[in-house]
Amino acid sequence: MLKLISVNFKNDRLNTLVIPVCEDRQIHENKTVTAQIAEGEKLREFTGKKGDEIIFYSSPKIKADRILLLGVGKCKDLTTGSLREWSGTAVKKCIKLKLENCHIAVPSAGKTGLHTDLVLEAMLEGACLGNHIFDKYKYEKKETSLELITLIVPPAAAKKFSHLPLQVSAVCSGTILAREWVSTPSNEKTPAQFAASIMDQTKATDLKITVLDEKKLKQKKFGALLAVAAGSQNRPRLLMLEHKPKGAKKTIALIGKGVTFDSGGINLKLTGSLDGMKMDMAGAAAVAATLITASKLNVNLHIVGVLPLVENMPSGNAARPGDIVRTFAGKTVEIGNTDAEGRLILADAMAYAIQTFKPQAVVDMATLTGACIVALGEKIAGVFSSDDALARAIVESGKKTGERCWHLPLPEDYKELLKSDLADLSNMSSSRWGGAITAALFLSEFAKDTAWAHIDIAGTALIKKPDAFCAAGGTGFGVRLLLDWLKNL
Ligand code: BES
Ligand code: ZN
Ligand code: ZN
Repeated sequence: MLKLISVNFKNDRLNTLVIPVCEDRQIHENKTVTAQIAEGEKLREFTGKKGDEIIFYSSPKIKADRILLLGVGKCKDLTTGSLREWSGTAVKKCIKLKLENCHIAVPSAGKTGLHTDLVLEAMLEGACLGNHIFDKYKYEKKETSLELITLIVPPAAAKKFSHLPLQVSAVCSGTILAREWVSTPSNEKTPAQFAASIMDQTKATDLKITVLDEKKLKQKKFGALLAVAAGSQNRPRLLMLEHKPKGAKKTIALIGKGVTFDSGGINLKLTGSLDGMKMDMAGAAAVAATLITASKLNVNLHIVGVLPLVENMPSGNAARPGDIVRTFAGKTVEIGNTDAEGRLILADAMAYAIQTFKPQAVVDMATLTGACIVALGEKIAGVFSSDDALARAIVESGKKTGERCWHLPLPEDYKELLKSDLADLSNMSSSRWGGAITAALFLSEFAKDTAWAHIDIAGTALIKKPDAFCAAGGTGFGVRLLLDWLKNL
């Protein structure tokens, strides 16, 4: 649980107090806190560098069982992002110390020059996300999350921002939901199981759920989606989640790639590339978690989430390279490579969403291409859009939430590379280069005149090594990003 309070250090007894310390400037105003920092700085081993830490077990001025000074580095590098990371590290440290709760002294806005609301939001997020432990598959549970994390602020701020802890908790619960879905192994998240798990999570919300099974998908002619699903024993689903508050004026469609395992199909991936392909449903996980959270927070927009859920497997029934399929939209596609399956299921889902809901904007989120990881690495997602303002708004939300995005181009002349001799399009570019762009251009063919953006999260959806506020596994990337973008519409 998260809390925001003010304390009187003279009278109030604390269990654990954690204080962020800058190496070159004071970022606190409270005299008791600055006196404690001065005690730390007397010691040679503590300078306030990032990663520096020292624990006091008694203090003349503060009634606490322990006081932990943790370095944040240079003042010029202090941002809401670095404070989000610092809070995650602080909470992880408290978990290591086997604590049940902690108090965190928030730097003063007067000293840092940062906006109090943004600092509080970031620090609450880092703390809440850093407190997440996914040990469902461990028999022996080694670590326990803190029960309570309290941020200490002046009385006026505690009052003014009293709504933040609950709001941030809701948003982080969404991120955590997406993380756990991504980390779940594919043997426990077939399309049917993943759909059931999403429906289970929507019980406490007012979301309207519609599921299309294989029979319905055939009737409605989801030819591209069915071709991808053909090789697997685990049958596909198309899940729709709808948040429709009274009075909402805009309709937004969110599409999420939901490949519960991507073996590559007949164009089977190489061993190294198969690694981690349980995460190929991270787009669907982020969209489902976003809808669930938007409903809990009563976001005043009509939002639909459309999730094509399939498993991409090789078998006697699998689609072959060279097969031609008719998409939901009517356009035909020659399957140049069965491993370029994401764009096929997204094409059908996008066309269906646009026809059914007539949204003002469509955003799809997908672990779409290895090429996007080559271009931007593992911490930045690629954004493509037919609408510059839409791309800009997503990039801005990325800056604010720390879920970074970079706007990449959609050059019209590259469409040449997706030509097929026999069909309207090929799902495989004729060039080895610019794979993230050609994948996005393929999708653009199914957006019609609707404002559309595509977010390629292939690099950012899963991490192999833990970072400041995320353990190894699913990152939940995209939930905070989409919620922030929606909030500003
Ligand atoms: N799911 C992969 C993309 C991916 C790769 C995600 C690495 C995360 C990490 C996607 O379906 C895929 O296989 N893309 C191919 C496309 C190619 C065959 C045109 C790729 O990127 O190599
Ligand atoms: Zn693939
Ligand atoms: Zn894939």
